[in-house]
Amino acid sequence: MRPLNVGLIGGGKGAFIVQPHQKAIHMDGTRRVVAGALFPDPKIALEEAANWPYPIRGYGSYDEMIAANATLPADEKLDYILIVTPNHVHFDPAMKAIEACIPVFCEKPLCLNLKEANRLVNAVREANIPFGVAHTYLGHWTTRFSRYIVSQGLLGRIRWVDSSYIQGWLATKLEGTGCQQADWRVDPKRAGGSGCGGDIGTHALMHLRYITGLDVTKVSAHLETFVEGRALDDHFTAYCQLSNGGKALVRASQICIGSKNDLGITIACTKGTLVWKQENPEAVTIHLADQPDRVYYRGAVKAGDGFLPENDNWLDTLLKEPTIPAGHGEAFHDAFARLHRFFEADVRKWQVGQPFARDGSNYANIEDGWMGLDFIQACVESSKRNGEWMNLGKPNSEP
Ligand SMILES: NC(=O)c1ccc[n+]([C@@H]2O[C@H](COP(=O)([O-])OP(=O)(O)OC[C@H]3O[C@@H](n4cnc5c(N)ncnc54)[C@H](O)[C@@H]3O)[C@@H](O)[C@H]2O)c1
Repeated sequence: MRPLNVGLIGGGKGAFIVQPHQKAIHMDGTRRVVAGALFPDPKIALEEAANWPYPIRGYGSYDEMIAANATLPADEKLDYILIVTPNHVHFDPAMKAIEACIPVFCEKPLCLNLKEANRLVNAVREANIPFGVAHTYLGHWTTRFSRYIVSQGLLGRIRWVDSSYIQGWLATKLEGTGCQQADWRVDPKRAGGSGCGGDIGTHALMHLRYITGLDVTKVSAHLETFVEGRALDDHFTAYCQLSNGGKALVRASQICIGSKNDLGITIACTKGTLVWKQENPEAVTIHLADQPDRVYYRGAVKAGDGFLPENDNWLDTLLKEPTIPAGHGEAFHDAFARLHRFFEADVRKWQVGQPFARDGSNYANIEDGWMGLDFIQACVESSKRNGEWMNLGKPNSEP
């Protein structure tokens, strides 16, 4: 079994998210980065590839990388492509890779708008090809454990969810000062219809959807811009109706000085409440009425402890997932690695014609990506109408 070959789109010249991804790709030894179209300018793209910390094939553009793949020997072909470009360069390379029958792992949000998302959903379904969206935080073991606890009903019926992602790095006008990550994030042409909501509100949404198994069916939203002269929101609040009749707040902010990557979720149910925070990602806290609080640490969870059941297949599988002993911290890179690990498993099955999970149970799938765009579009529209309730939909039914 040779390692899977991964091709990068984006990642040159001081790029951010390519770095955690490429570490995570290499973490198990069963995947490796072999090629890259790393920058929009072909000359710089080739220079950046030549200077990559280990040897990779450089290409002047993603069109070249995808075209060249067709004529490579079987063991050099790309097994999947990772898209780590700004949001406006997701749709085109993703579409071209799918058309060339190359699985895609794409950064979030899926693309710029619902029109692009519809086309991607149709293309992925028609090709029946693995496609993942990089909602990093679903890859924490503790997120997967939270999903088990909540969706198994161990806390009763979900009444209320507060899912938030609070940052402070855009509290001043960082754009235009040489920070490339700020520049494109505040530009509607490159970021999409919402700045803060699209960038990190979608993480809070996906966290809610993944752990609860519920959909957001209606939103009443306010998108606000606190930093003068900015075209997109830097503060985002969506009051949500959930598919079980419960309510939720999905909120995000980039102007709260002092907050770093404060993603967190509180899920209040009829029998108890679950609390998780990404800045302390090894712990899940459970509050049950009239009982001492329970804090579960990854690596130190035992079935049949009076709250968790014994002999439950889902829990047993979770407890057997490869991980390191409790107290040796897992975090962001491990979460990414877990997503790539599950994606690898699907790619390997797909390559030999076996059915693979397209259900979003291990990483966000194309439909989840679509839901993120639908959520953003509905929130933008609601905010324009001063918080009017807007309905959310579902991607078209299977072709
Ligand atoms: N999952 C997460 O936790 C997470 C975190 C940060 C960013 N992101 C997402 O990752 C993506 C990239 O964000 P970033 O912060 O790394 O941005 P960045 O600006 O640091 O990097 C983007 C890279 O894409 C390259 N690029 C742009 N156009 C290109 C083209 N046509 N061909 C080849 N390369 C091209 C740029 O040169 C740069 O190397 C965004 O979609 C963002 O939303 C996700």
